Amino acid sequence: MAPWISKRDPNLCQDCQYCRKWICRYESCIGCQACHVSCPYDAVKMEERPSWETITIYFDDKPLQVTSGIPIKEALQLSGFPISPFPKGDGIFVPCGVGGCMSCAMEVDGVFLPICVTQVQEGMKIQKEFSHPISPLRIVHGFQGHPVGGVGTPWNLKASGRNIEVACFSAGCNLRCPQCQNWTTTYCGKGVYLTPEEAAISLTRARKREEVDRMAISGGESTLNRPWLIQFLNILRKLNPDKEARLHVDTNGTFLTNEYVDELFQAGMTDVGIDLKAIDVETYCRITGIEDRKKASLYLRTSWEAVRYISENYKDRLFLGVGIPYNRDLISMEEVERIGKEISNIDPNLQVCVLDYRPEFRRGLIEGNMIQRPSYQEMVEIYHLLRGTGLSTVLCQTPFGHIGPHIPDKRR
Ligand code: SF4
Ligand code: SF4
Ligand code: FES
Repeated sequence: MAPWISKRDPNLCQDCQYCRKWICRYESCIGCQACHVSCPYDAVKMEERPSWETITIYFDDKPLQVTSGIPIKEALQLSGFPISPFPKGDGIFVPCGVGGCMSCAMEVDGVFLPICVTQVQEGMKIQKEFSHPISPLRIVHGFQGHPVGGVGTPWNLKASGRNIEVACFSAGCNLRCPQCQNWTTTYCGKGVYLTPEEAAISLTRARKREEVDRMAISGGESTLNRPWLIQFLNILRKLNPDKEARLHVDTNGTFLTNEYVDELFQAGMTDVGIDLKAIDVETYCRITGIEDRKKASLYLRTSWEAVRYISENYKDRLFLGVGIPYNRDLISMEEVERIGKEISNIDPNLQVCVLDYRPEFRRGLIEGNMIQRPSYQEMVEIYHLLRGTGLSTVLCQTPFGHIGPHIPDKRR
């Protein structure tokens, strides 16, 4: 298979410079595809590179003949090392592919580097395990006050009119949602890599500055780099030992196995918001941009299972909020109702936030058409539909702020 090279389509490129400023590390393209997945105008196509040579690299001391100039991840994949969609699968875990999460980091010639965006060099020595102890790293930014919070923020705090939480945002995500609402974090491959301690200190400072008790981590996808997240929460808890301190993790739930939930709880997590993006795999693929149906099924199943597991095992110990999407071009009202019924079967008192998916990132372009933000009336309809499934605490995001959970039900 020939290596890749990127090509910008001048008819689509808006010269916004995002790819140069936040994504690409190279003068000469290595075909990592990071700009291809992250361009908000879908202006980067990948083509076959016309010429290449063969070089030797060493992976865990084993020599491999690989194509010159390509990313390490690609070289390993072409040498027969599979890429795993799950952290503990049989293979190499490369969830974000843009250099943001550092889940894929290996020791490369003695340096800790993300293999998804690092180019192979003749004689390069790559080790899966590090030869000396090293702190995990991740690009994390934000560290600001937030007036609304997230899916895992209890509704009764949301309308106070002041900042109720401080949040930081971790770069990189395993999903490729065409309407991503936070794409400059999802696709951030160049920035400052922080240790868990540095991030915990910054978030604690933000808490003091804003005089709030809640501290949140969102993304991107916060759970990608598990050692980083666990250390971050442990340190955050040590820096904030008071019982008022709430540690909130916002996640798509795709990696939240029971064991991971237990570990997060032990590390200090008190509140968790999980996005359940669908109930049908076809819808999940459409909303998340994941084309591999098997992978999509695994992610969807894991996120639902996480909601069930937390509801059953952490009822009085963790605050759980669930997020579900609505946009008529992406998911039907009938499926939203089925999601509501299923959540209601798990626990009718779970807090459910409906996110009105807007035309962000690639504007959620579907077959060339731009999605429209759901109207206020549509969101009111969704609210009543979900209340009709037995759910007691439904909030719906609208162009005019949240509605619910106790708006008068005028239709009854
Ligand atoms: S991010 Fe896309 S639109 Fe912006 S400069 Fe790069 S290729 Fe062009
Ligand atoms: S981000 Fe990767 S694919 Fe895009 S131009 Fe840079 S090296 Fe090439
Ligand atoms: S997968 Fe390489 S940095 Fe995220």
